[in-house]
Amino acid sequence: MDGFDLVVRGGTVVTSSDVFRADVGVVGGTIAAIGRDLRGGREIDAGGLLVLPGGVDTHCHIEQLQKGGGADEEGWVSGSTACLAGGTTTVVTFSTQFKGAGIAGPLADYRRRAGAAMVDYGFHQIITDATDDVIWREIPEAVAAGVRSLKVFLTYDALALDDRGFLRVLAAARRAGALVTVHCENYEAIRWRTEALLAAGRTAPKYHAWSRPKMIEREAAHRAIALAEMVDQPIQIFHVSCSEVAEEIARARHRGLKVWGETCPQYFTLTAGHMDRPGFEGAKFMCSPAPRDAADQAALWEDIRRGTLDVISSDHSGWCFDGPRGKQVAGRDASFRDIPNGVPGLMARLPIIFSVGVAAGRIDLPHFARLIAGNPAKLFGLAGKGAIVPGNDADLVLWDPARRTTLTQSLMQHAIDYTPYEGLEVTGWPVATIRRGEVVMRDNLVQAEPGSGRYLARGTYDLIRPTGRLPDGFDASAFA
Ligand code: URP
Ligand code: ZN
Ligand code: ZN
Repeated sequence: MDGFDLVVRGGTVVTSSDVFRADVGVVGGTIAAIGRDLRGGREIDAGGLLVLPGGVDTHCHIEQLQKGGGADEEGWVSGSTACLAGGTTTVVTFSTQFKGAGIAGPLADYRRRAGAAMVDYGFHQIITDATDDVIWREIPEAVAAGVRSLKVFLTYDALALDDRGFLRVLAAARRAGALVTVHCENYEAIRWRTEALLAAGRTAPKYHAWSRPKMIEREAAHRAIALAEMVDQPIQIFHVSCSEVAEEIARARHRGLKVWGETCPQYFTLTAGHMDRPGFEGAKFMCSPAPRDAADQAALWEDIRRGTLDVISSDHSGWCFDGPRGKQVAGRDASFRDIPNGVPGLMARLPIIFSVGVAAGRIDLPHFARLIAGNPAKLFGLAGKGAIVPGNDADLVLWDPARRTTLTQSLMQHAIDYTPYEGLEVTGWPVATIRRGEVVMRDNLVQAEPGSGRYLARGTYDLIRPTGRLPDGFDASAFA
């Protein structure tokens, strides 16, 4: 067969269920055929390489607006560059709300900024203030504009919703047909332990982990699930750090609830011990929930294998280590309470998960493809993304499964000034990234036009429809 714009020839194609030798033919940026002996105007030799779906990162913070003006230190051009260098072609990032203000203004500003993207992108809307106007007018408007997921924080001074606010967001999402994602940690328990640690003079970065042990994550996840069950609203629990939380998700799913779980590379590679490095160095590894220990990492792999955790995102955060912003915004002697949380990881996500997952024999190739692309695309309604099938966008990564690389800052191509994975040896590396049929990265060199990414307005889809099971059959979400 000929007449394709582009043919990726002779590679080993990885779909969500299979691995087989085939050519991939592309017409107009779309996968037109998968077969043998395809011919096209341009051909790329993929002999000896895997052909993976372009990565879909449904939890990353890029150029996120900050209170008081400006945005975090990862911009759309640098963030897109890091994504494409690492084999990610689609992201879902965050439009934010500041307490006391609405969501439409920041959303419009954020949408304008994202016009520079070189990856395809959609947004989650963070809700921090569940006012009547936000709940009854602005959320339905944002969802109608294609922002089909909301994020709620159950902790952080500036962001946390109380249970009533959370319930109001769940109800608004149910009415509008959106998914709710939840940061699960118990705010009051963290406050109490933090006060005690600071009073005891324990202020170093390592005490970040002490301030939020596993049971506070588990308690919040349990509560989030119970409240979502009461409203009959599907949720995804973000950045699960330990099996105790996955167990809550598994029990919910066993009862037929629509509850999904996401985890991140940091929970397979970093431990609380990293935050105990000398001086301020530990701040580089500080994220929430906190990294745990080696036994927790092993247990998380079991949750991945069982399918309880079915998405691995980066949770990339745009905080530099040096300089007056980012990790040192409160000074180099700041207590753990005043150090911004989060670690960068846009580029490193696929290499790390391939290495510690596939190369280490813990998961097979289709499972890898589902975790980093297929499942997040399905769960977040990203039509045409996440899988190598005819009709989908031709988002492909040519992957050398044997190449060994030592991760280092210069390979990350982000705007952040460090990587928490410095020195980590990985097996498996992206050789080329193709976005909608265009080769946008080859041998670590990203070449894409700022603004060439597309906004992905997400419409309704079946997966996140409520189950119809309500306590006493009463739909409180119709009234409050
Ligand atoms: O520590 C983290 N995860 N920072 C990013 C913000 C969030 O909670 O997702
Ligand atoms: Zn979070
Ligand atoms: Zn996050």
